[in-house]
Amino acid sequence: MPTEKDFTDVIYGLSRKRGFFWGPSPEIYGGTAGFYDLGPLGKLLKNRLEGQIRAAFVRANFWEVECPIVSPAVVWKASGHLEGFIDPVTRCTKCGQAYRADTLIEEEFPDAHIHGLSLEALTEKIQELGVVCPSCGGALGPVEQYNLMLRTRVGLDTEAYLRPETATTTYLLFKRLLTFFRHRLPASVFQIGKAFRNEISPRQGMLRLREFTQVEGQIFLLDSHEQDWAPFSGIADRRLPLLPYQLQESGTETPLDITVGEALDKGYFQTPAYAWCVHLAYSIFRDMGFGEDVMRLRQHLPEERAHYAADAWDVEIHTRSFGWVECCGVHDRGDYDLSRHQKYSKERLSVKVDKKPVIPNVLEIAFGVERPLYCLIDNAYVEDEERTWLRFPSPVAPIQVAVFPLMGKPELVGPAREIYNTLLNSGLVVYYDQGGSIGRRYRRQDEIGTPFCITVDYDTLEDHTVTVRDRDSMAQVRVKCSELTSTLHSLVRSETTFASLAADPT
Ligand code: GLY
Repeated sequence: MPTEKDFTDVIYGLSRKRGFFWGPSPEIYGGTAGFYDLGPLGKLLKNRLEGQIRAAFVRANFWEVECPIVSPAVVWKASGHLEGFIDPVTRCTKCGQAYRADTLIEEEFPDAHIHGLSLEALTEKIQELGVVCPSCGGALGPVEQYNLMLRTRVGLDTEAYLRPETATTTYLLFKRLLTFFRHRLPASVFQIGKAFRNEISPRQGMLRLREFTQVEGQIFLLDSHEQDWAPFSGIADRRLPLLPYQLQESGTETPLDITVGEALDKGYFQTPAYAWCVHLAYSIFRDMGFGEDVMRLRQHLPEERAHYAADAWDVEIHTRSFGWVECCGVHDRGDYDLSRHQKYSKERLSVKVDKKPVIPNVLEIAFGVERPLYCLIDNAYVEDEERTWLRFPSPVAPIQVAVFPLMGKPELVGPAREIYNTLLNSGLVVYYDQGGSIGRRYRRQDEIGTPFCITVDYDTLEDHTVTVRDRDSMAQVRVKCSELTSTLHSLVRSETTFASLAADPT
């Protein structure tokens, strides 16, 4: 089995070769760290993930909105990002290379316990531990604050920033949303769109991007709703793999296997509404195709939380490239955001409760799409003596079905094209291929994770059946052409298993 480093190379190599992602972008000009292009298969995969995510939010009663990427400085002053969205940076006094100070110290001294240290304390730590520039060995300068937002200009001279999260832009709509929701809370909205973070020196490829697609769901609600959250009863007995911060502080890495209800009773979650959000985040990642065995929910240590968060839990996914990867944050933002925007905009952002103005709270589910996309490719990779393939769950595979004529003869190509068009028109993502031996065509589809291949052969002309081949088992079964579309739809949605089809062929 390849080591972690080699495995990362395997995934990047396969992704480049097969057109999942390329970069850093723009490649022909040498590339800038933190920017990647999605190739055709990466874009298809991302579309499928976004489809699953959108469906999950809609099922949970969220409405989708879309806001501008650029906002004037006042917005980010109000949100606290100008002051609080910062990383500690140190520069090499010899070569000038900049580093994120905490990451640099932790890379060399994983047990240095630097969470929550001030800038001065980090500077002292660097000196005390003798950390030097990894590139030239030069001495490192004092640790300073560095704001992660990308600054731009609107018109001639209006200072503005590319949004570092979609969330803030959603909060700016609160007055409009109140009207839309006929002044009734709770109200749930989500946004899928680009966000930007000017990371100091990103070195984790697709996992630390300066431009990425964020998905953020927001629930506006009152204290009373947080305690009395009707949908909670539907999930109270579901089990979650939870790693509360007290457990982490005692050195435990193994999550508790506990129901949502028990976790609330034990005080791991403060309210039923927040517990429901953590469960929703977990189920969105299950819908994207991650197995229970590679997921855990980790609570932030108090000093780890963002400036707006009263409580925070992450969904983490286990990868062979990077170990546990933080993929999603669930934040209790309290009334922080609406209070700040009320103060800075001087607009009323409260609702009336018992005739008194009350500023609602916000619960948030936030994640980027590229991280789960990378983790899914990492988790899907399988290699044996015979072949290499991607075991994507069928509901998210970039190409769902491939159609081949056994040979490039007109009498087989005609019906194969007809089947291809029928499947395409039914809404499946289908690929047609008549080049090379049938074995090679199967292997090509295995390598990009297509779960099912259809072959039209001479029997098709006689009995109107085709071969359906399953990627994982490589087993084949004959299916009537008249039942092919419905059979494939239920296979790709995982409503029917291939094994049950093989046991009961048409
Ligand atoms: N909106 C929260 C985040 O960007 O992580």
